Amino acid sequence: MNYEQAERLKQIPPYLFVRLEQLSAAKKAEGWDMIDFGIGDPDLPTPEEIVDEMCAQARLNENQKYSSSQGCRSLRVAVADWYRKRFGLDIDPDKQVCITIGSKEGIFNIAQAFVDEGDTIIAPSPGYPVYSGAATLFNEANCVKVPLRPEKDWLLDVDECPKNARMLYLNYPNNPTGATCDLEYMRRVYDWCQENGTILCFDAAYSEMCYDGYRAPSILQAGPDAIEFGSFSKTFCMTGFRLGYAVGNPDLIAGLTKCKGQIDSGAPIFIQKAGEKALSLYGENGETPKCVLDNMDVYAERRRVLVEGLRELGFDCVMPKGTFYVWFNCGMSSFEFTQKMIDLGVIVTPGSGFGESADGYIRMTVTEPVERIRLALERMRRGSYQ
Ligand SMILES: Cc1ncc(COP(=O)(O)O)c(C=O)c1O
Repeated sequence: MNYEQAERLKQIPPYLFVRLEQLSAAKKAEGWDMIDFGIGDPDLPTPEEIVDEMCAQARLNENQKYSSSQGCRSLRVAVADWYRKRFGLDIDPDKQVCITIGSKEGIFNIAQAFVDEGDTIIAPSPGYPVYSGAATLFNEANCVKVPLRPEKDWLLDVDECPKNARMLYLNYPNNPTGATCDLEYMRRVYDWCQENGTILCFDAAYSEMCYDGYRAPSILQAGPDAIEFGSFSKTFCMTGFRLGYAVGNPDLIAGLTKCKGQIDSGAPIFIQKAGEKALSLYGENGETPKCVLDNMDVYAERRRVLVEGLRELGFDCVMPKGTFYVWFNCGMSSFEFTQKMIDLGVIVTPGSGFGESADGYIRMTVTEPVERIRLALERMRRGSYQ
C-alpha cells in the first residue's frame, strides 16, 4: 500500500540539512575528505563533569521513571536560580519555568498551545526553519516572513511587522546571521508586542555563545510578558542530550506544559540532573564557567581565522559577536556557491535555506579545527580540491 502524507506535512520542504547531506554523501562515498562547516552541532565534547553526573544519575532507580511534562522541580529551581545569577531576575520555578526536550520542542509546541487556524505568526527571514515551517503549518496558521536586512544589522524591524499577529519569533544571538542585539532593542520589540497583543517568543539558544566582551541580555529583562527559550545544546555541547527550558509569562508556561502533557512525558530525569549540574557551574554573580569559556576561546580563534581568511579571498564578512556562525555574501546564488564548495570538498550551508530573502548568503559553522579551516581556505583560494 502507498500511504500519502497529510496535506500539512506535504507542504513542509525536506529539512535543509537532509538535502545537503545527500549532496555531500556522494562525495564522501567516493572517499573525499569533506571539511564540514554545515550543521550547527558543536564538535567539542560535553564537559566531563556533566557526563559523569548523567552516568551516576542514570544508575539510580528513581531516575529511570517517567519525568513530568513541566520537568523536575529541582531543575526548574536551578533554571530560576540561573536567571537570578545571570540576569538578576526573580523567576518562580513553579509558574514561570517549563523544561523542554531541547529548545526546538518548546519553540514548536508553544505555537500548538496558542495559535489557532488562520492566526498570523511573524517569522524573521532568514531564520531558524521551525518558526515558518512546522510551527506555522501544523497549526494552519498564516506565516508572515519579515526580512532581516544587512543595513539594519540583521535586526528585525517591528515597523515592517503586521499588527494583528498572534505570535512573533525573535532570535538573538541569531542563527544564521550571527547578529546580536542589546537590551534597548529588546525593549522596543517587547513594547511593540505589548501594544499589539502579540505573544513574544524569544529564542535564546545562543545566549551563552558570545565573544569580545559582549554578553547577551534576556528578553525578560525588557519585561515579564514574553516567553524565552533557552538550551543546553550549544552552551555545554549537549545537543544530543535534548534539553532546554522555557521561562516567562505564567499563562504561556501553563499552556506549553498542558500541550506537552498530551505529547511527551518530559526529558529523561537523569538528563535533567545533568542539566542541573551544568547550570551549577555558573558563579554566584553569573560568571561563565571555565569549561564554557575555554570552548568559546576555541570558537573565537576559529572564527577569527575563518573571517580573516574569507576577507583575504575578497568576501565582505562581519566578525560576529555571538553564535558559532560566520555569515557572508557570496556574490552568486547561495545554492550555486554551495555546490561549488562541495566540489572543493567543503560543506557550507546556503543562506537561502533560511529564507529566500537571504539568497546570495552563506553560513559557515566553526566546528572544524583551525588547521582544517586553513585547508578549506586554501582549497577555496586554489579553486580545487587537490
Ligand atoms: C536558533 C535556534 N533555536 C533553537 C535551536 C534548537 O536547539 P535545541 O533544540 O538543540 O535546544 C537551534 C539549533 O540549531 C537554533 O539554531
